[in-house]
Amino acid sequence: MWCLDYLVRNVLWSLLAWTSLTSTASAHLTSTSDALAVHSSVPLPPSQDPRYRAPVGFESYPPGAILRLRKAAGNLSTITGNCSSVYNILYRTTDSRYRPSWAVTTLFLPSKQLSSNTALLSYQLPYNTMDVDQSPSYSLYSSQPSGAGPSNGGAFQIADNSLTDIGNALGRGWFVTVPDFEGPSAANVAAIQEGHATIDSIRASLRSGLGLDKTSRVALWGYSGGSIASEWALEFQEQYAPELQIHGAALGGLVANNTRCIYVVDGTPLAYIAVGAIMGPVIQYPEAYERLVSQLKTSGSHNKTGFLAAKKMSPTQGFAAFYNQSIFDYFVNGSAVLYDPLIRQAHLENQFMTYHGVPRSPVFVYKAIKDEATPIEDADYYVNRNCMLGANILYERNSVGGHLDEMVNGLPRAVAWLESILDGTYSDRYNAHGCTIRNVTVSTVNSGT
Ligand SMILES: *[C@@H]1O[C@H](CO)[C@@H](O)[C@H](O)[C@H]1NC(C)=O
Ligand SMILES: *[C@@H]1O[C@H](CO)[C@@H](O)[C@H](O)[C@H]1NC(C)=O
Ligand SMILES: *[C@@H]1O[C@H](CO)[C@@H](O)[C@H](O)[C@H]1NC(C)=O
Ligand SMILES: *[C@@H]1O[C@H](CO)[C@@H](O)[C@H](O)[C@H]1NC(C)=O
Ligand SMILES: *[C@@H]1O[C@H](CO)[C@@H](O)[C@H](O)[C@H]1NC(C)=O
Ligand SMILES: *[C@@H]1O[C@H](CO)[C@@H](O)[C@H](O)[C@H]1NC(C)=O
Ligand SMILES: *[C@@H]1O[C@H](CO)[C@@H](O)[C@H](O)[C@H]1NC(C)=O
Repeated sequence: MWCLDYLVRNVLWSLLAWTSLTSTASAHLTSTSDALAVHSSVPLPPSQDPRYRAPVGFESYPPGAILRLRKAAGNLSTITGNCSSVYNILYRTTDSRYRPSWAVTTLFLPSKQLSSNTALLSYQLPYNTMDVDQSPSYSLYSSQPSGAGPSNGGAFQIADNSLTDIGNALGRGWFVTVPDFEGPSAANVAAIQEGHATIDSIRASLRSGLGLDKTSRVALWGYSGGSIASEWALEFQEQYAPELQIHGAALGGLVANNTRCIYVVDGTPLAYIAVGAIMGPVIQYPEAYERLVSQLKTSGSHNKTGFLAAKKMSPTQGFAAFYNQSIFDYFVNGSAVLYDPLIRQAHLENQFMTYHGVPRSPVFVYKAIKDEATPIEDADYYVNRNCMLGANILYERNSVGGHLDEMVNGLPRAVAWLESILDGTYSDRYNAHGCTIRNVTVSTVNSGT
């Protein structure tokens, strides 16, 4: 019965949507397989998946509209645990240049739902890549949960930890939606794109007919690269999705100023982050991208080929390939590349938090004081600026550990906080007004990284 109900609702939805399209577009959307769940046994990399593409005419749908919906291929629900089924939703969104675009989210359904209300965790995975085939909708298949945390394997085990987080969230009865927020151009650190795609993944999940609706409670969660997508969603919500209620956001390892991040990680084990932070935001600006490529050296050990190879790397490969390198060595005029007017403009539009809006739901920010990738000063600035404008923030600065350590050290506090948001007990358990800023000492791991 449930399946039938679901099919009927989606057929109706697609027919209604279809009537508003032009005849050319409708010819492509009418095939029922476009609108209905089709289960295939083998997951395909997005670049080779004919269904990881927007149907013709998608531009005329409103942001958040579902363009395709299918049961996720293979046995992702078994890999995750606590899960009854998993769906891929391809939906309309808006890119960094405010043009119509699209993205895919993976929606996990809990095997046991909450009896009181339905809850959706919008989980932004720090997938740090410029290769669309490393998007979570596909990369999540390639790892098994380790449950051990990054005992300084750090960035290399991010996918493993994400599966554990998703399994635990499902075990609490939450639905979990995991967007490929960088979109089809794998625009890493393209914050406007990422914020929009995150918001629209929530809209699409709520209207999927899979158990959620507009009364569901919604929380955002993201660490590091995932904090960018989550926070920008929060900043854009009031102007881009005024109808949407987001009940709270947990932001770890906050990346409030990407330009600073580029300088700070350059020449360190995390140098690959700088490659993405320099190249990612210009991918959707063709002139700026062309300029960037024209500034790359054509000979020597740090050359164009080596730099652009990052576009076909997983984060694991990227961290290894650029380990301890000076990324500015790839450019003819070194760090001056950041001051080229075209490149700088694309960066400025996408790199600084707090300029697009004030969070109107509670926020939990957790950060290592000695974060070596994204300095604590930028998070302090973020919190102070929003507090002056009336935000409700709990900000915990941990005296122990570095950037990747805090992903583990902050985990139990983040989950407890999210739980209060999703079960509606937040104002009983936390200060629901103004800002609470405190130093904490939590040392589950302390590798300094
Ligand atoms: C998932 O499927 C793969 C291959 O199709 C198989 O090797 C693996 O054992 C399955 N995992 C689970 C947990 O069922
Ligand atoms: C299922 O959820 C419970 C409760 O959150 C958790 O303890 C358990 O580890 C989860 N199992 C998996 C496989 O994720
Ligand atoms: C961001 O960091 C850069 C590089 O350190 C700095 O010049 C700039 O003033 C910072 N911007 C903001 C808004 O904090
Ligand atoms: C990488 O750079 C760090 C300093 O950022 C240094 O401590 C470390 O020894 C370097 N590692 C290698 C293998 O060169
Ligand atoms: C590098 O800087 C020099 C001197 O400022 C300038 O003449 C040259 O055009 C620059 N090269 C590039 C590729 O921008
Ligand atoms: C470019 O750099 C790579 C190493 O990253 C090297 O193997 C290759 O020979 C270089 N190409 C040129 C033209 O120097
Ligand atoms: C937290 O510690 C810093 C030093 O790292 C100190 O300057 C600051 O006053 C402390 N903040 C609070 C709220 O205790």
